[in-house]
Amino acid sequence: MSKLWGGRFAKNTDVMVEEFTSSISFDQRMYREDIAGSIAHARMLAKCGIIDTTEAETIIDGLQAILADIENGTFSFEVSLEDIHMNIEKRLTERIGAVGGKLHTARSRNDQVALDTHMYLKKEIEVIAGLIADMQQAILDVTEKYPRAVMPGYTHLQRAQPILFAHHMLAYFFMLARDFSRLKGVWERTDMMPLGAGALAGTTFPIDRHFVAEQLHFSQIYENSMDAVSDRDYIMEFLSFASILMMHLSRISEEIILWSSSEFSFIELDDAHCTGSSIMPQKKNPDVAELVRGKTGRVFGHLMAILTVSKGLPLAYNKDLQEDKEGLFDAIDTVKFSLTTYASMLRAMRVNENRMRSVLRNDFSNATDMADYLVKKGLPFRQAHEVVGKCVAYCIEQQKWLMDVSLEEFKSFSELFEQDILEAIQIETCVDARNSYGGTSSVQVRQEITIARKMMDKQRMVLDMYTKGNI
Ligand code: ARG
Repeated sequence: MSKLWGGRFAKNTDVMVEEFTSSISFDQRMYREDIAGSIAHARMLAKCGIIDTTEAETIIDGLQAILADIENGTFSFEVSLEDIHMNIEKRLTERIGAVGGKLHTARSRNDQVALDTHMYLKKEIEVIAGLIADMQQAILDVTEKYPRAVMPGYTHLQRAQPILFAHHMLAYFFMLARDFSRLKGVWERTDMMPLGAGALAGTTFPIDRHFVAEQLHFSQIYENSMDAVSDRDYIMEFLSFASILMMHLSRISEEIILWSSSEFSFIELDDAHCTGSSIMPQKKNPDVAELVRGKTGRVFGHLMAILTVSKGLPLAYNKDLQEDKEGLFDAIDTVKFSLTTYASMLRAMRVNENRMRSVLRNDFSNATDMADYLVKKGLPFRQAHEVVGKCVAYCIEQQKWLMDVSLEEFKSFSELFEQDILEAIQIETCVDARNSYGGTSSVQVRQEITIARKMMDKQRMVLDMYTKGNI
């Protein structure tokens, strides 16, 4: 296939070089953005008198026909045409003749690829924001299904204090709320229109960049043409967002994996979200959670890759920057898949309330409550800590739990213990006593849920704002 840039070349490109430098295998997914961007550009060229209106119409009709061909699968992408931009432009000229060659007036692939990537990422951010909100909703659904389930809370993966299962799950809700808000920031800085930067320095034609921005629903344009074609910050920001989100998903995955082990048996995942073993007939493996935890690695890797690709690059465009897309696309796919499967897995998961309660009966996670009891009777906290520590050591020696100790035995550790100690260290009492703002008591957790719902209402407004700007 003859090249659009072939004029100064005496020889054909080496086939291996074509293969190596081409990006069509992955940038073809931006065909809609490329065509929408070209249509807006053609309209602008006509409006500014750079091409005739009839020429613009012919070009736009041709582009729309190409869009239809791609969508119905009759367009064949050529590696020798390097990328999505030249595949479409070449086909345009084949379809409508020499006038197709006017489309690239006042434009370069450098600003064109930047435009396509901005548009593509904006659209995907909008989808991902919706998926985050859905996973948040799934978390709320789970907490509503098990409002009273109690479980041990851990520090150092050692049982620490009893908590509501809903409180634990809601921690992830608020992490995702921050992810949602971080993503909005990324969207705002992706919502910036680079076209019109030309190859790097602007153009000699009297173009109207604001007109293009308006047609494509961008609210800002790049102020500096060199920055417009060199900037990949928005990709780095997206990958930072994606890395933090995946880190959150990886943490919940670790817990889901632990909780569904026989040792914990706190939850049971639905069969639909697990797989079996080819050799061990009894196995039911939490593959989704494991794979989300595993795929977190590649998203972190993509962030490091684009940072490293960019760190030594002189302005403006360098071919190195073509390396920005595969990692970005893979991170988008990974995040979308992870969020979608997670939401349905959480909704179908069964929580073993009895098991979680029974492990609490057999541990010392009410020890802090016992110390707090003594403090409320007037003992300084440090001394109370010491008394309860001795009591725990006694129990370990006697092979019993604090709840099995009699009032007489308690009194031998401190005269301050009275009948009400037995009630004070019951699981529900311990949970509901943590009634400080943001604590695990049922009152506070109800309040958290109210706040979470309000946050979701606000998020819905953001999602509406996104869809209004859709092209
Ligand atoms: N395929 C290229 C990329 O993704 C498009 C821009 C190419 N520009 C150029 N001057 N070679 O970066």
